[in-house]
Amino acid sequence: MIENKISQRAKNIKPSSTLAVNKKAAELVAAGEKIINLSVGEPDFDTPDFIKQAAIRALNEGFTKYTDSSGIKQLRQAICDKFKKDNNLDYQVEQIIVSCGAKHSLFNVLLAICDQDDEIIVPAPYWVSYPEMIKLAGGKCVVCKYKEDFKMDIEHLKSIITRKTKAIILNSPSNPTGIVYSEKELIEIAEIACKYGIIVISDEVYEKLVYGGLKHISIASLGEEIKKLTIVVNGVSKTYAMTGWRIGYLAAEMPVAKAIANIQSQTTSNPTSFAQKAALTAITADQSFIKPMIEEFEKRRNFIINNLSPKIHYCKPDGAFYVLLKIGNMTSGQLAQKLLEEEKLATVPGDDFGAEGFVRISFATSMTNLEETVKRLNNFAERNV
Ligand SMILES: Cc1ncc(COP(=O)(O)O)c(C=O)c1O
Repeated sequence: MIENKISQRAKNIKPSSTLAVNKKAAELVAAGEKIINLSVGEPDFDTPDFIKQAAIRALNEGFTKYTDSSGIKQLRQAICDKFKKDNNLDYQVEQIIVSCGAKHSLFNVLLAICDQDDEIIVPAPYWVSYPEMIKLAGGKCVVCKYKEDFKMDIEHLKSIITRKTKAIILNSPSNPTGIVYSEKELIEIAEIACKYGIIVISDEVYEKLVYGGLKHISIASLGEEIKKLTIVVNGVSKTYAMTGWRIGYLAAEMPVAKAIANIQSQTTSNPTSFAQKAALTAITADQSFIKPMIEEFEKRRNFIINNLSPKIHYCKPDGAFYVLLKIGNMTSGQLAQKLLEEEKLATVPGDDFGAEGFVRISFATSMTNLEETVKRLNNFAERNV
């Protein structure tokens, strides 16, 4: 029997619940149900045309072969310039590794730093893929509890650090809560990381999607000591509506960057050649073209938080495009199921994010859908709270 041959490593991995809900919602829509799909984790905007044209040009010019395994020099230089301009971070080109999406960058990082049973701290509520990637890399996921404001409980963080703690994954702005850590909070986290010599894997993919005049701060920019301990991960998926292009990148101290470059060279090799050219065009363009998308997300976020019933308990997002919410006293699974059956809303159960009782909705959908969504959620709250 072939199923007996599947590795324990593979058997230990749960499928991504966000992708599973997406699939279920698509099936119901195909069967004629009027479902509003709130499970998506990508901007509902098309990739801007001038970025597509750059890829088409690259194809027409025959840029279709292997590239430098860590990414083309021009793109890595552009990423260095971006780090300097946006985050006040100085890196050499050799410290930048371009991969097939930030997800791939994160997995490369974990493969490069995890020995068997090394502990990686993941503050809840967390992105669903972190615990599974840690397991795949042989590490152990240790969850840090959250406070009422959905930010990490620093006292709990201090109490779970052991000799085996290798790293903490910081995700600001966060998926699934949209919380954004302030400079003061980041300094506190940086001090703990420096005190115990813990690596900070800083997932900054939602960097540009911040609202209410907030500015994203990279923890790596808070001083030389924390910069040396930080691996910054970012990508083009969310900022430029380029999820399908699969380009992400990271910046790390030389020994880590070298280890990751080796892993990538023996596994996937380079990220897609012409997608790199498209990413280069996106990153080096005048960035004002992303403003309308950010403004639209902010408008939608404001609409939701201004219109949700007080009976709904939710985390006000300062960034990203999600709202984590809770209605009544159900488990996440029950709530998601009832919302799908009774209100035709496809949401993602929060238990996979380490937030039992909650579901996540995405506002990467039209205002028309969101107006209807809020109406249905409020009706549901009326009946269930
Ligand atoms: C927190 C977080 N990190 C990383 C990623 C991966 O992004 P990419 O498309 O670059 O792989 C996602 C995508 O949903 C995400 O939500």
